[in-house]
Amino acid sequence: MGCGQPPGHLKDLAKRKGILFGGAIGPEELSDSTARDLVLRESAAITPRNALKWRTLRRSRHDWSFAEGDAIAQFAQTNDLKMRGHVLVWNPIENMPDWAVDVPHGAAGRVEAQSLMETHIERVCAHYGDRIASWDVVNEAFEPYSGDLAPGFFKDRIGPEYIELAFHKAREAAPHAQLVYNDYMRWSDKYPNHHKGVLKLLETLRKKNIPIDALGIQGHIGKYSGTENDAHWYGFLKEVTAMGYDLLITEFDVRDFARAPDIGSRDANVAALAKGFLDITLSFPELKQFICWGLSDRWSWFRQSEPREDGELQRTAPYDIDLKPKPMYAAIAAALMAAPSRDPATI
Ligand code: XIL
Repeated sequence: MGCGQPPGHLKDLAKRKGILFGGAIGPEELSDSTARDLVLRESAAITPRNALKWRTLRRSRHDWSFAEGDAIAQFAQTNDLKMRGHVLVWNPIENMPDWAVDVPHGAAGRVEAQSLMETHIERVCAHYGDRIASWDVVNEAFEPYSGDLAPGFFKDRIGPEYIELAFHKAREAAPHAQLVYNDYMRWSDKYPNHHKGVLKLLETLRKKNIPIDALGIQGHIGKYSGTENDAHWYGFLKEVTAMGYDLLITEFDVRDFARAPDIGSRDANVAALAKGFLDITLSFPELKQFICWGLSDRWSWFRQSEPREDGELQRTAPYDIDLKPKPMYAAIAAALMAAPSRDPATI
């Protein structure tokens, strides 16, 4: 699949099918006019990549740092983009600010951790109010091999009920927002217990009437070539939607790990993986939002987190580092054009 002339902006192709399309952004995009133009051309929605995480907002225990998030919210408002909130509660301890490890375990720590979590949700939701239309309330709660709830800051101090408490507080603090449980959810069948654990959680939350609207699928795909399992993935999404949940793709990109030395075959591999995953996932009419974790390779998080063995830059996004469209762009466009229409996203 060549890149050639894009067949239409992704946000428009998506909108025709009732899907809200966009990309994650940070100060990097905002401070570069070409990148800003690209975001505006392609996106109807944005997610702040890191601006609303505890490590950004809560650098010290008592001072709040809303500046980065506010700049993004302002950009969204000025340009009439929907904004997603990422993320209120992200349990792994490394995602918490350094000072948080001082919160003790045990009974006193439990009260303190719950109060920290609830105050955080209240304050951040109140700060942005209806400017944030959809919130990732809890992110990555599972240990993927066992499918058990993973240890981490909130789980270890509050207990498994931290998830329910977080959703209750989020509904109170953001009464109009869509509330999402977000997780990486592999397309492969390598971690069946992870899928089972998430299904069990979603089922329990429904039974207990916990306010949660949707499952966010991060969609960082690609490293598990050869083990992707379409039937398994389809079956999983079918079960989630049968429980009445909406779906979103919240952080789409494709790991570019092919050993091929030439960019042409690497890009073709990434594009094929993108198309394969999207064809299944977008076939669900409950899927109404689709966000890429950055539109360009220039700011791909894999540059730092998972560099290629050969030292080459990973090519994981629809646009390259010079902000030129790649075969992955055409693959996304093709998947959007092939997707069935649905009732438009209401956020
Ligand atoms: C990543 C960001 O892209 C990086 O810039 C940051 O250093 C670490 O976090 N799942 C998530 C996202 O939910 O918040 C992560 O974002 C990527 C994996």
